[in-house]
Amino acid sequence: MINRKAMGKASPIFLILLTLGFFFATYNLVTLVIHNQNQERVKEMIGSTTADPVIQMPEELKKSVGPKRPFHVALTATDAPYSKWQCRIMYYWYKKMKEVEGSDMGGFTRVLHSGNPDNLIDEIPTFVVNPLPSGMDRGYIVLNRPWAFVQWLERAHIEEDYILMAEPDHIFVNPLPNLARGSYPAAFPFFYIKPTDNEKIIRKFYPEENGPVTNVDPIGNSPVIIQKSQLQKIAPTWMNVSLKMKDDPETDKAFGWVLEMYAYAVASALHGVQHILRKDFMIQPPWDLKVGGTFIIHYTYGCDYSLKGELTYGKIGEWRFDKRSHLHGPPPRNLTLPPPGVPESVVTLVKMVNEATANIPGWDDSS
Ligand SMILES: *[C@@H]1O[C@H](CO)[C@@H](O)[C@H](O)[C@H]1NC(C)=O
Ligand SMILES: *[C@@H]1O[C@H](CO)[C@@H](O)[C@H](O)[C@H]1NC(C)=O
Repeated sequence: MINRKAMGKASPIFLILLTLGFFFATYNLVTLVIHNQNQERVKEMIGSTTADPVIQMPEELKKSVGPKRPFHVALTATDAPYSKWQCRIMYYWYKKMKEVEGSDMGGFTRVLHSGNPDNLIDEIPTFVVNPLPSGMDRGYIVLNRPWAFVQWLERAHIEEDYILMAEPDHIFVNPLPNLARGSYPAAFPFFYIKPTDNEKIIRKFYPEENGPVTNVDPIGNSPVIIQKSQLQKIAPTWMNVSLKMKDDPETDKAFGWVLEMYAYAVASALHGVQHILRKDFMIQPPWDLKVGGTFIIHYTYGCDYSLKGELTYGKIGEWRFDKRSHLHGPPPRNLTLPPPGVPESVVTLVKMVNEATANIPGWDDSS
């Protein structure tokens, strides 16, 4: 729910965007008509009025609503075997989906925050950054993510104006378009990120003068598609907020393993950035059953089933796929498909893993 005060603040920009969007929809339609009909006659009917505003449109807005808005895929990763095999599968599906109609995917970078190159640098475009100074991550390795983004954004040359923050356990299941709209980034709403239920803690980092707690979106940093210029501002704040949250025992205890997600949500709100929430951004088997028109499969949860195809979550299944079964090396090629009755999302996931591992040279000897 958007609070009325927030709405009041956002609405002029929103209205402008809406108007622009409408204008471009009309403009595209008109262009289409021009292409498909007798050109001269249609041009006369429309006159030259539609062309002028386009020329006068500020450069930045033109880019944000134009048809080609590629985003750079940025994958934060470590050199651990567990991270590596997931990155290889992720990159395989990126390459495949990038070529499919409807994709706005641009370049790809594995932002490797272990400080040293590893044996995948020839297979996957990689940018090496430093981990946090020893001890600073307090044993919570994902605190390295914001720091990795800060370094990468500062040092790398990134061609695209937009960035997708992705993770190794993401598989592109459909060609991903740029879901952001101008300065409104797109994010996936996580049901377990509840800023309004944690108002007291959120207020330690998002003081009242910044606005209502509802300004803090129920999201993490990934998946998010955002303008590079916005992320350049948010990333340092995200890093600071993460460290401050980790340093506060009450916050650390309350947020636990999702602390760095809250930190991103708060940091973006501190910069006045609100996200378009896209539930179709990704699915999380075994909870989501169908792929449909969604874009990413996130295989963070274990999938455990009986041979009758019944979910046995929390209990080791007779059939299972769980990334945590492969902490020390890659899963073998050609995993057994799930028994009949298992949801399409899980079947698709295993088939996609199998396709990737069958086609990645030297799969078995990767570690
Ligand atoms: C992050 O924290 C450091 C140390 O407290 C401070 O110097 C810096 O200005 C902060 N940066 C941002 C972007 O908040
Ligand atoms: C994969 O495994 C199945 C049995 O589970 C087998 O029938 C099939 O031939 C295998 N395919 C490859 C390519 O190894």
